[in-house]
Amino acid sequence: MAPALLVALLAALLSPSTQKSGVDWETATSSFGVGQLRIGEPSEAEAAAAEAALAAENAPAWRELWQASLEALRREPELNATAETIRAQLGSVAFLHCPVRHLAERQVSWVRRRDWHIISSGAFVYTNDERFQVLHREGSEDWVLQIKYVQKRDNGTYECQVSSSNGALSRQVHLQVVVPEALILGAEELHVDAGSAVRLVCLIENSPEPPQYVFWYHNARMINYDAARGVSVQTAAATRGSRTQSTLSVHRARPDHSGNYSCRAPNAEPAHIYLYVSEGSDKMAATLSRSAAATNYSETTHAVLFESVESLSLTY
Ligand SMILES: *[C@@H]1O[C@H](CO)[C@@H](O)[C@H](O)[C@H]1NC(C)=O
Ligand SMILES: *[C@@H]1O[C@H](CO)[C@@H](O)[C@H](O)[C@H]1NC(C)=O
Ligand SMILES: *[C@@H]1O[C@H](CO)[C@@H](O)[C@H](O)[C@H]1NC(C)=O
Ligand SMILES: *[C@@H]1O[C@H](CO)[C@@H](O)[C@H](O)[C@H]1NC(C)=O
Repeated sequence: MAPALLVALLAALLSPSTQKSGVDWETATSSFGVGQLRIGEPSEAEAAAAEAALAAENAPAWRELWQASLEALRREPELNATAETIRAQLGSVAFLHCPVRHLAERQVSWVRRRDWHIISSGAFVYTNDERFQVLHREGSEDWVLQIKYVQKRDNGTYECQVSSSNGALSRQVHLQVVVPEALILGAEELHVDAGSAVRLVCLIENSPEPPQYVFWYHNARMINYDAARGVSVQTAAATRGSRTQSTLSVHRARPDHSGNYSCRAPNAEPAHIYLYVSEGSDKMAATLSRSAAATNYSETTHAVLFESVESLSLTY
């Protein structure tokens, strides 16, 4: 009777309707001692054994790796905290360095001290200003803040920061924006007589990189190539230890050469001088006013500005 009941029960449990009712097939069968149906699948047992053996074999290497990364995580980052000053010419590219050792999973942040603006964290840049970028080579310890087309407003102190268990580590980098400046030798005005030769000398100062060009303007007109109007320009590029110098020559000044002359170089503050050319109606007047101009010139402390033409009298 008992075996028959067991079979009946088993049959009931195995019927699709009971399965649908939610009775777990494996639990039900094993509780009746028929669970060993699953035993005797040799491939699975073998696979488990092989897996265990493999794990045992790889354990030392794996453990080493694990310990190494734990150690790396525990090691405190090291940041060279010596402040640095970087000079960058207006319009050039500035590179601000932040060398960090044992960074592990931490992030290097760049902060602008002027407004405490967080510029970047890791390689991610928070500012909309596309001139800012973080340069980091895989395996390198340096996190470089690159600023393109440096502006005057970029002048100031930047700080790179890394957190450690002893608080934040930081390094300050002072960015000095250098603004080249044009300078015309002599006073703000120059008075000459018609027929005189005029020579204006412009120096480009404060320009670590030599300017790519120097342009002279007469009022709003660029006159570098105005040979036909009696004007010529010669520019000597800076060499080591000297400044770029540009010379504007008017071979024989006419009243229409009067006006506002400016000397301009890229990313440099321009310089101006006003030239007055008076009409020389006769030789005597020209000579007189020439000596007056020469007197004025002798009072200036700067180099040659005005040269009278030897043949001045011959022109009249
Ligand atoms: C830290 O940085 C300064 C300036 O950049 C450098 O002169 C100095 O050698 C650096 N010190 C170390 C320990 O790297
Ligand atoms: C940049 O800042 C320094 C120090 O604050 C200052 O001496 C210098 O004149 C500034 N330069 C410019 C171009 O603003
Ligand atoms: C010459 O022009 C510059 C602008 O290009 C101006 O700042 C300066 O005042 C002018 N000088 C004179 C005397 O007009
Ligand atoms: C010198 O220059 C000034 C203008 O800068 C002019 O008024 C004067 O007549 C010139 N001559 C002398 C001798 O001062």
